[in-house]
Parts: sequence; structure tokens; C-alpha cells
Amino acid sequence: MMTIRCAPTSELIRVETFYRETAYYGGLNAADTVIVAESDGELVGAVRLCEEEGILVLRGMRVREDFRRRGVGTQILAAVDRFVGERRCYCIAHRYLRSFYGQIEFDEIQLTAAPAFLQHRLAKYTEQGLDVIIMARERKPKSITAVT
Ligand SMILES: CC(C)(COP(=O)(O)OP(=O)(O)OC[C@H]1O[C@@H](n2cnc3c(N)ncnc32)[C@H](O)[C@@H]1OP(=O)(O)O)[C@@H](O)C(=O)NCCC(=O)NCCS
Repeated sequence: MMTIRCAPTSELIRVETFYRETAYYGGLNAADTVIVAESDGELVGAVRLCEEEGILVLRGMRVREDFRRRGVGTQILAAVDRFVGERRCYCIAHRYLRSFYGQIEFDEIQLTAAPAFLQHRLAKYTEQGLDVIIMARERKPKSITAVT
């Protein structure tokens, strides 16, 4: 059975180990909100929601290789959707994952519309040969119909 949940800070080392095993070297902070996917007691997916310069950024989306293309990433995104709610949130994504993140209303934005630190990060990734884009989402509040 697959469980999707927020990992408490007591699980930080476990998440670090998962990230190392799945070749993610972007770090992990105690202040991050980490959403994990767990199958039979093993971590098989994780994502970080980081507050950077007061801005919410999705980072470190990883699903274990043998669990990919089975909807685990999509289930993690559903939890991200609930956590982020109506706040503005950014992510730097591989161009080929535009529709993956689009599932929870992330849209590609112009580079110049992104916070400067994300523009710099994107430039660094591009220099490394990665084809990446900046995406953002800011879901509109659901309209409330007044009942009188
Ligand atoms: C990206 C990643 C998290 C997706 O997780 P996942 O559990 O495999 O994703 P899902 O099974 O929920 O995929 C849902 C849909 O997203 C799209 N998608 C997922 N992975 C994709 C890929 N590698 N290329 C293109 N589209 C992809 C597809 O439309 C897929 O539906 P389909 O399988 O019916 O075609 C996973 O492949 C991963 O960990 N990759 C390595 C790390 C990485 O690239 N992280 C993202 C950095 S931006």
C-alpha cells in the first residue's frame, strides 16, 4: 500500500538517505516541508517545499526508479496541491515534465517574471546542459456562493 504524508523532522536523516540513493544533491533543511511516499515501510518518493527568500519553492521531486510511471509522483503532487493551497509557488522543472507539474496547475512563466535567485539557479542548471524551465502556480480562491 502506498502512503503519502508529511515527514516529521525526526525523519530527516531517512529522507537524506533516500535523496542520496536517488542521486539528489540539492540538500535538505529542517525548515523544509517534506512530503514522502512510502510503500511497505520504504521511502519510494519525496519532494521538498522550501521557503527561500520568503518565497515557496518546490524542489527535490524524486521517485525511486523502480516505482516510476506508476502514479506515485502524481500522488505526491496531489499532496503538494493541498499543502500549497492558494499560495504562490515556483519550481524549476525539466522541460519534458511541464505536463507532469501542469497536473496541479503549475504553468511555465517567463524567466524575467521569476524571482532573481531562481533566474540565477536556472542559468546555473542551463550551463550544466539541462533543458529546464521555471514554472509557477497561484490558484485562485474558490468562489464562495453566498446562501441567504
Ligand atoms: C519526475 C518523476 C518524479 C515522476 O514521477 P512518477 O511517479 O514516475 O510520475 P507519474 O507516474 O505520476 O507520471 C504521471 C505523468 O507525468 C508524465 N511524466 C512522468 N514522468 C515523465 C517523464 N520522465 N517524461 C515525460 N513525462 C513524464 C507522464 O504524462 C505521466 O503519465 P504516463 O505515465 O501515463 O505517461 C520521476 O520520474 C523522477 O523521480 N525522475 C527523476 C528525478 C527528476 O527528474 N525529478 C524532477 C526534477 S524537475
